Amino acid sequence: MKRRVLIADDEKNMRWVLRQALEAEGYDVAEAADGKEALSGISEQEPDLMVLDHKMPAPDGMEVLRRLRGKGHRFPVIMLTAHGNVQTAVEAMKAGASEYLTKPFDLEELKLSIEKALKMSELAAEVDRLREELEQDWDVEGIVATDQNMLGVLQTVQRVAPTSATIMLYGESGTGKELVARALHRLSERATRPFISVSAGALPETLLESELFGYEKGAFTGAMTAKPGRFEMANGGTLFLDEIGDIGPAVQVKLLRVLQERTFERLGGTRSIEVDVRVISATNQDLQQLIADGAFREDLYYRLNVVPITIPPLRKRLDDIAPLVAHFLEKYGAQGRTISPEAMRAFVEYQWPGNVRELENTIERMVILSHSDEIGLDDLPAEIRAGVNVCDAGTRCFVLPESGLDLEETEMDFIKQALERAGGSAPKAAKLLGLTTKTLEARMQRFGL
Ligand SMILES: Nc1ncnc2c1ncn2[C@@H]1O[C@H](COP(=O)(O)OP(=O)(O)OP(=O)(O)O)[C@@H](O)[C@H]1O
Ligand SMILES: [Mg+2]
Repeated sequence: MKRRVLIADDEKNMRWVLRQALEAEGYDVAEAADGKEALSGISEQEPDLMVLDHKMPAPDGMEVLRRLRGKGHRFPVIMLTAHGNVQTAVEAMKAGASEYLTKPFDLEELKLSIEKALKMSELAAEVDRLREELEQDWDVEGIVATDQNMLGVLQTVQRVAPTSATIMLYGESGTGKELVARALHRLSERATRPFISVSAGALPETLLESELFGYEKGAFTGAMTAKPGRFEMANGGTLFLDEIGDIGPAVQVKLLRVLQERTFERLGGTRSIEVDVRVISATNQDLQQLIADGAFREDLYYRLNVVPITIPPLRKRLDDIAPLVAHFLEKYGAQGRTISPEAMRAFVEYQWPGNVRELENTIERMVILSHSDEIGLDDLPAEIRAGVNVCDAGTRCFVLPESGLDLEETEMDFIKQALERAGGSAPKAAKLLGLTTKTLEARMQRFGL
């Protein structure tokens, strides 16, 4: 594509000379005879570069430059100034000119300047584009979501992330609570500050307390030096308190105080330490039940539960399964491999007690164990395969359970399933099963259906 240069100069001869020279170089040239024309020319068709004479009837070149930069035009501008006027040259550069040339100038010099300025601006545009791409990746940051249920959650995430609101993440094990917590941090103004994660379930209470709040030298036997806790480390950033339901009563009290007053003391210390920390907590337990049982403080619950976000289990976002499978195949280096329709169906029908983590582990294992280009039912673990019984209409297939098959019961089961899928119509169910209606009716009678 030809690049357009706009020449703004009130001297007709000058415009003519420049036009000849630049057209010969393959540029598309436009002209403006004064500052006003220059400004209107810009809004009509944004040039890729402008050669701008400083000395023109008002608005002069400097004014034109200021106005166009003020309007946000980024294209390079080469300012032509009178010989010896250093002051103007300096001013032009400050106002956003890419370069200045003093009259009279060499045409070759101008051509070189134009080429250089265009190259620079194209590079800058490329960098902007790449950065934008990068930022888009950051938005999603490995969170695969297609299902409406999950998209709704991510919408909330995007809305509350920039605030410093305290957030509670609910979700079964492996649903992506930690992933979402990290996304909340990265989408906030705290993104450049630390994200510190503490898992309450992993530590006994006294250890958890010193882990969170730190200790002074001599606070307990073995405390040879002072140590800051996670709250201090997270200052300015985000503290992720995982498995919050496992926190014992003493730490609950201390936590409540930090949330209320933003200050605490290290173990064995008297000095009040002030912190600015955003707290995101997560649990897969029923906190209401813990409160009812007296195991969790209600006042702390209200402090933590300012913005509750519930991440649905995988079985409630079936549309996410296929994209997640593709995502994990790629993650484990098997992007070229596909999943057979039966295997995908087994994935969709399986209940996934371990949610996304279980799906991820399953795929990882399959990638290692199976070498076929298409991963089929046979490659799936038995518990996932077992979910698939009657295959899609038209095909008949059956996967044997590991043990305990009762043929009569299975037959009855199949008939029931087929009838259900056929909306109770025996002829349709018969077709699904590959039987005549008469045969099916005979079996139904035998089984008392
Ligand atoms: N929507 C998703 N897209 C891509 N990867 C995901 C998604 N959800 C979860 N994962 C992946 O699944 C695994 C489990 O996620 P994560 O650790 O965030 O779950 P969790 O809810 O914190 O689990 P737990 O309750 O067991 O701690 C991680 O490897 C994570 O990267
Ligand atoms: Mg987790």
